[in-house]
Amino acid sequence: MSMLRSVVLGCGSYLPTRVLSNTELSRMVDTSDEWITQRTGIRERRIAAKGETTADMALAAARAALTAAGVEAQSIDLIVLATSTPDNTFPASAVSVQAGLGLTQGAAFDLQAVCSGFVFGLATVDGLFKTGAFQRALVIGAETFSRILDWSDRSTCVLFGDGAGAVVLEAQREHGTREDRGILTSHLRSDGRHKAKLYVDGGPSSTQTVGHLRMEGRAVFKHAVAMITDVIEDAFKATGYSARDIDWFVPHQANKRIIDDTAKKLGIAPEKVVTTVDKHGNTSAASIPLALTVAVADGRIKRGDLVMLEAMGGGFTWGSALLRW
Ligand code: UT7
Repeated sequence: MSMLRSVVLGCGSYLPTRVLSNTELSRMVDTSDEWITQRTGIRERRIAAKGETTADMALAAARAALTAAGVEAQSIDLIVLATSTPDNTFPASAVSVQAGLGLTQGAAFDLQAVCSGFVFGLATVDGLFKTGAFQRALVIGAETFSRILDWSDRSTCVLFGDGAGAVVLEAQREHGTREDRGILTSHLRSDGRHKAKLYVDGGPSSTQTVGHLRMEGRAVFKHAVAMITDVIEDAFKATGYSARDIDWFVPHQANKRIIDDTAKKLGIAPEKVVTTVDKHGNTSAASIPLALTVAVADGRIKRGDLVMLEAMGGGFTWGSALLRW
């Protein structure tokens, strides 16, 4: 039986020009290039320019995705922006992107699931497409974590970076089989008992301040691989595919050790893993669309490829999406 699938028409990204290297960081806090590289795989990250906001970067990524997709901004009727670092408490930064693209039709809203935001955004749009309410969407992940870092805390400030990535999704009628293009299955989870392990110590209704990111890194690490593996196995169960069938594994880019351990546990071959954490650091909701854009641009991900996405982050939230490009 035929069904509506959410098919990627194109992707694009934006990175601020300022590169912050591990060596530079080692002059700011008590750390070293060796420690950061060995523990995380990160070598450098980008930092937004003064006055450059999440919505600015999201708009640049959205424009790049529209160009790659070969479609007009005017054909977009839904914008979902995954971010934990919006320009304002409200309105949503997504409406700034909407206005920046010159759009007045359709709907635009932000989605907050921290590092899992892009996967949550894909699943949300996929569900909305199936209602028939929208036909063509931008799903964007954009973050300026540099603005919520405690730059005197070496255990967190070395880990994160700024950037934005976006995909254009279109509702297309497919056959309803696992050979279809588009999102084949998505699995979202959260567990609020872990809130204190990764959070920002401020907010409008608690402190009336923006706050700073706080993380018990080792505790997050301990849960990450098991949680990620769980939702990927859910995707395998739902489709009958296995690790061998995956062409590309595009994980959230938090730590190379988490990525490698997850791939190994699942039996995904190292050459199928897309890794950008060395250049981007952890860009939270932006990390997956940034990595997708790199792997499409260098010719790795091609039409028809089976691509597994996963993320895990604050909340905890975690999720997977399996799609055919
Ligand atoms: O995207 C959301 C999800 N977030 C994550 O997935 C992050 C998950 N966690 C991690 O990636 C890792 O836990 C970290 C990279 C944050 C830390 O690596 P670790 O191997 O778990 O190190 P640790 O926290 O156990 O710290 C080991 C040592 C400590 O010193 P002692 O107590 O052994 O003397 C830290 O104080 O490393 C020290 N340390 C540092 N040393 C140099 C912590 N940060 C630094 C630093 N430079 N930047």
